[in-house]
Amino acid sequence: MSVRPPADAGSSRRDFMRNGFGSIALLCTVAAPDALRPRKATVTSAAIRSQAKSPFAPFQRDLPRIPELVPVSSTRTRDTYALTVREGLAEVLPGFQTPIYGYDGVYPGPIIRARKGREVVVRQTNALPFETNVHLHGGYVPAEHDGHPMDIIPAGGSFDYHYPNDQDAATLWYHDHAHGRTSKTLYYGLVSMYLLEDELEAELGLPQGEFDVPIVIADHAFNKDGSFRYAENVDIGFRGDTILVNGAVSPRMAVQRRRYRLRFLNASNARSYALRLGKGRPLLQIAGDGGLLTRPVPRARVPLHPAERTDFVIDFSQYGPGEEITLYNEDGEGGTVPIMRFDITGGRVSEEFRVPTRLRDAEPLPAPNARRTWNLALGTAAWQINGLSFDPNRIDVRPRRGSTEVWTFVNNSNRVHPMHLHGFLFRMMDRSSGPVELADKLGWKDTVGVLPNETVTVLAWFAPYAGKYVFHCHALEHADKAMMLQMEIV
Ligand code: C2O
Ligand code: CU
Ligand code: CU
Repeated sequence: MSVRPPADAGSSRRDFMRNGFGSIALLCTVAAPDALRPRKATVTSAAIRSQAKSPFAPFQRDLPRIPELVPVSSTRTRDTYALTVREGLAEVLPGFQTPIYGYDGVYPGPIIRARKGREVVVRQTNALPFETNVHLHGGYVPAEHDGHPMDIIPAGGSFDYHYPNDQDAATLWYHDHAHGRTSKTLYYGLVSMYLLEDELEAELGLPQGEFDVPIVIADHAFNKDGSFRYAENVDIGFRGDTILVNGAVSPRMAVQRRRYRLRFLNASNARSYALRLGKGRPLLQIAGDGGLLTRPVPRARVPLHPAERTDFVIDFSQYGPGEEITLYNEDGEGGTVPIMRFDITGGRVSEEFRVPTRLRDAEPLPAPNARRTWNLALGTAAWQINGLSFDPNRIDVRPRRGSTEVWTFVNNSNRVHPMHLHGFLFRMMDRSSGPVELADKLGWKDTVGVLPNETVTVLAWFAPYAGKYVFHCHALEHADKAMMLQMEIV
């Protein structure tokens, strides 16, 4: 694997070594993740948690910095990367080796940093004993390269994904999307971020380099041997009892007294979070799924549904050295409350970054030329959309390329359904449960959590590509059981 250690030389070196250790260990013991093997162990996280020196105690480990992938080659207009999808081991709990599936065998996988206007090609080689594929979530990608659930890479095969990067800067992510197995493959580690940057964003002076920190949150549970424990629940989706952040249990992060950009991704199968910063401080949101908001918005409580991204800038200069600020999940209980802790270190530093009061302009959109309603409900055996389950041989809707449409999701159930469109972004229009959050109105989204018995209306823009894409619930147990429809942009 050609990764470079992340910018922060301090804590990163260790985590880079940690990942390296995982790969070396793999040579001796190829432990298969137990995704497809039933487990008998009845002792779980709860039991390990009660031990004297629990590996589940929060704030014991430094936040692992996710390594960044280095291109295998570059030309004037394109960067080419190579990744192998394979089994690996990760030291998620100190002293344990957790079998995972990983991009290059690491969890979370290496980050790809892309630049608007430069093409990225990722050669994905499937070294797993079953099919996989890779979806660039939030990306404007031609249909053949989108990672449609039926376009798979067979075991032993490989595929070159071409990403044009024609859209504005945004925190995207990539993950497996082979139909029917995504809940397990994501859970066992096939997930990472894809950070798309552009000129406009670079000129704003937002925190960069080691002060721009990607953070992947996912809830997990464990068997006694430290392996991930997965129990399928097709009703509410998987729920773990432990929060992993960049692959470590609720870690801590030493921060200087200055501004940091923190990019959060909820990579959980089905858990929604409500982020809140300790001491009642607001989180300054600067970006959502589809990139920068038109202006920053201070928020006290930020819901984060599966697959959503939210970028904040936190100015730690307002705190004193030695202070500890917890980021917690207001909707959690027990081990799913603490997300991470920021430990303020050192004296005041001279700040080189800022957050301008205007971040970007909102694009003018064509007037909508269709209205569609999607009913989300439990059918006889599965969650469905308009009474239908995914059928790759059926096209459910044909929006016109370049047009906008008003889509209304009607949730007739008491479960959250994070609804996601592949390939295109939308703007929030309306929710029946109350006003749309300001931050959600000021930017693009690709996933929206439709709350129990709520109706949510969005304006989707079907630009720029034609072809076949899917839209689906991102509660992965729902999606795997076919809560997904197909659209063809014509
Ligand atoms: Cu994260 Cu079908 O997507
Ligand atoms: Cu997607
Ligand atoms: Cu759902």
